[in-house]
Amino acid sequence: MKTHILALAALLPSASDAAKFSINAQPFGEVDGKPVQLYTLSNESGAKVSITNYGGTVTSLIVPDKNGTMGDVVLGFDTVDDYVEKSPYFGCVTGRYANRIAKGKFTLDGKEYTLATNNAPNHLHGGEKGFDKQVWNANLGNDGDNPTLALTYTSPDGEGGYPGTLTSTVTYTWTQHNALRIDYNATTDKPTVLNLTNHSYFNLAGEGSETVLDHKVQINADRYNPVDPTSIPTGIAPVKGTPFDFTTATPIGKRIEQDHEQLKNGKGYDHNYIMKDSRDGKLGVAAIVTESTSGRTLIVKTTEPGIQFYTGNFLDGPKGKGGKVYNHRSALCLEAQTFPDAPNQKEFPSPALRPGETYVQTTIYHLGVSK
Ligand code: BGC
Repeated sequence: MKTHILALAALLPSASDAAKFSINAQPFGEVDGKPVQLYTLSNESGAKVSITNYGGTVTSLIVPDKNGTMGDVVLGFDTVDDYVEKSPYFGCVTGRYANRIAKGKFTLDGKEYTLATNNAPNHLHGGEKGFDKQVWNANLGNDGDNPTLALTYTSPDGEGGYPGTLTSTVTYTWTQHNALRIDYNATTDKPTVLNLTNHSYFNLAGEGSETVLDHKVQINADRYNPVDPTSIPTGIAPVKGTPFDFTTATPIGKRIEQDHEQLKNGKGYDHNYIMKDSRDGKLGVAAIVTESTSGRTLIVKTTEPGIQFYTGNFLDGPKGKGGKVYNHRSALCLEAQTFPDAPNQKEFPSPALRPGETYVQTTIYHLGVSK
């Protein structure tokens, strides 16, 4: 039996029963007249993740450093109002289409669709009111030893310009080994396009630390998508011989200021990498990040064919948790996804979802320490 603080007296552990996890739920304000909750899933060691059903947003991820001291490794805010007013997609579920669709237009089965161009001249992260700004239905549970939070949102046909009634479920599992597992599942009643991701901003030295330029990153990809000056992919290119080569662990800051057209187009690293070992249900290691002062490590695994490596280039000092200022490049994102602008680029994996099909994705953020 497990502790389940929110839940039921009947589920409280007896003295002989070792509690392996706990789940706590607290009111987190109101959005669109709907109450919003903050759920905290803790494992036996006391490491924990907090997630709100506003946007399915991971608001904190508290894990030990090499000395066992707990610290929060994701950027975020203290109140839901701050998320509503000024969040640059901190921690959220991003959809219906994460990343960009050129000029907010795509054609599917001969029909053209028009979306918001909220990142002029392109569509970004689902538009004006994407999945990050919706209130999701929440269901708490466990898979044995690990607490789970399943969030469901049904997006009506035509919402934001996208076709089809789309029902998506995102299940977060917080494991005893400090891994945040995210399982996605979605179905539609009309042909549509879909690209879901999680947009957590990590700083392994602790959120609010100056920059991530000293974090070492290794990405399991020897190709990436170069982009035009509006960040739309122009094709596929090898990373070899460029500052985009992270096939071996390299500090982010080592080459980020090099004189390279792609670093200018992305204002730093803001590019999709093409995974070598992940795709179509096969869970492969996508990236490994290490930070030497804290000793913390992050291993990202995914079933997705791509991962957006973004180095917080547009962070311009919003005040986050506890009033901390989040400076330029003070966090990194590793967003598992299909390729940006895939609805318009036939040589990319298809992002189409049709009635009768089920979209599935698994991505795992595994926090650890190396001494
Ligand atoms: C994009 C960036 C964008 C950031 C926040 C990332 O996924 O690639 O260009 O600035 O999200 O919106």
